[in-house]
Amino acid sequence: MIVHSMANVPSIEIRVEALHKSFGEHAVLRGIDLEVSSGDLLAVVGGSGCGKTVLLKHILRQLSPDRGRVLVADHERDNAPLVDLADLSDEEMDELRLHWAVVFQRNALFSGTVFENIALWFREVKGMTDAEIRPIAVEALQSVGFHDMVESLLERDRDELSGGMAKRVAVARALSMDPLLMFYDEPTTGLDPVHAGQIHRLILDTHLRPGRAGMRRTSVIITHDKDLIHRLEPRVIMLHEGRVYFDGPFRTFEQSDSAIIRPYFDVMPILHERRDLGP
Ligand SMILES: Nc1ncnc2c1ncn2[C@@H]1O[C@H](COP(=O)(O)OP(=O)(O)OP(=O)(O)O)[C@@H](O)[C@H]1O
Ligand SMILES: [Mg+2]
Repeated sequence: MIVHSMANVPSIEIRVEALHKSFGEHAVLRGIDLEVSSGDLLAVVGGSGCGKTVLLKHILRQLSPDRGRVLVADHERDNAPLVDLADLSDEEMDELRLHWAVVFQRNALFSGTVFENIALWFREVKGMTDAEIRPIAVEALQSVGFHDMVESLLERDRDELSGGMAKRVAVARALSMDPLLMFYDEPTTGLDPVHAGQIHRLILDTHLRPGRAGMRRTSVIITHDKDLIHRLEPRVIMLHEGRVYFDGPFRTFEQSDSAIIRPYFDVMPILHERRDLGP
């Protein structure tokens, strides 16, 4: 008799159903359907302004749909059943977010020092002291390539960082939370090739590292970075005119001769090509 363990059945992390969103006359999302399974490494691509960030904000419940719905796995309950975001109280939403980390496209950090930015979540959610948080913050910053300067960096204000540094701190903070679901909105935009290469590798390493209780992690990456998708070979979702135009493996996306995908892929920038960092 073959016994299938539940752990081997890919469970659904996110299901978006017929999602519509307009701003005034501008219909941005016009019926998005998609399903993200536990363990997926997913890149969301598409032209500037096509609605990638708007879609992410619906999944995070920062925007609410005009029509359609967004369901997500509730890891606070056994077997992580799907729940409709529209049905959750703010408290339930906070509990759900315990398992998520987000690197935002804009305003990745809040105003305050680097240490405050990393410490807040550990203090408020985990009830940890600054002395306990400090080594976690140091390790996280080292993992994104800050080394000698870490101690002084912790005390620097967000406004004293370059855009690229702020992005790396935001990635470090997200990784330090050890989440099951990672959302990245253009994690490498504005980075130089060396640091972008480090972020590519960190995203992949974090994705592959088992989460708590051996659970698989799920990563959703909005990106314009062709080198990143070459390197990660993710499942690719392309948005076009408010819908999912393509959903499939990177190899198929790359080889597509669709009149929509081909020109997009050919001009998609190689922002930070760097192939000498090893696997
Ligand atoms: N709060 C808002 N109010 C009005 N319009 C908005 C709002 N948020 C987004 N939009 C519009 O929705 C469209 C999609 O925006 P979105 O930020 O999702 O694009 P994107 O695909 O993330 O683009 P990019 O690659 O440039 O980041 C844009 O035309 C934008 O101006
Ligand atoms: Mg965006």
